[in-house]
Amino acid sequence: MEVSTAIRNRRSVRNFKSDSVRKEDLRKILNAGRWAPSSGNTQPLELVVVKDPKVKKRLASAALGQSFVAEAPISIVVCANVPRTKRRYGERGSQLYVIQDTAAAAQNIHLMAYALGYATCWVGAFDEEKVADVIEAPEEVRPLVIIPMGKPAKIPREPPRRDLEDIVHENIF
Ligand SMILES: Cc1cc2nc3c(=O)[nH]c(=O)nc-3n(C[C@H](O)[C@H](O)[C@H](O)COP(=O)(O)O)c2cc1C
Repeated sequence: MEVSTAIRNRRSVRNFKSDSVRKEDLRKILNAGRWAPSSGNTQPLELVVVKDPKVKKRLASAALGQSFVAEAPISIVVCANVPRTKRRYGERGSQLYVIQDTAAAAQNIHLMAYALGYATCWVGAFDEEKVADVIEAPEEVRPLVIIPMGKPAKIPREPPRRDLEDIVHENIF
């Protein structure tokens, strides 16, 4: 699939079939995250693949009751190992770069999953402490995105985007 097709047609899906994610596909999807750029190649990325129904249920509850997190066959918790980046870049590394690094990885994961026929949703609304507790993250690891993933049961209509002319500024704002 062309990258442009995946970028244009990917949707946030919140209804999943029970079909599982094939092992070899999951590996490709996780590798897509691994190959995202990171600040100074510090690679703060840590990925937790959640399949256990009990853990998924606790994750959904930590995600403010967004039940589709538990209904998807798997959820990937995209985390940042903060000291890896903070050591090199100090506060800017720990406050900004780790967020950007994990966001880049998360987007690669969404696009690769889509290209392989899976649906995902970016879930950012969650209680970070509770999610960290559910996945038993070490203290220095921040969970930043949850990505439920599976075959889509219902694909929503595309939400509109602002016009290009409204968001692009030439030379100065
Ligand atoms: C940082 C961030 C946090 C988000 N958090 C949630 C969330 O907690 N729950 C949810 O259902 N969707 C969440 N979304 C998905 C957005 O609602 C969705 O991307 C947006 O409505 C555009 O739809 P599209 O992804 O289909 O283009 C989040 C997206 C981003 C980028």
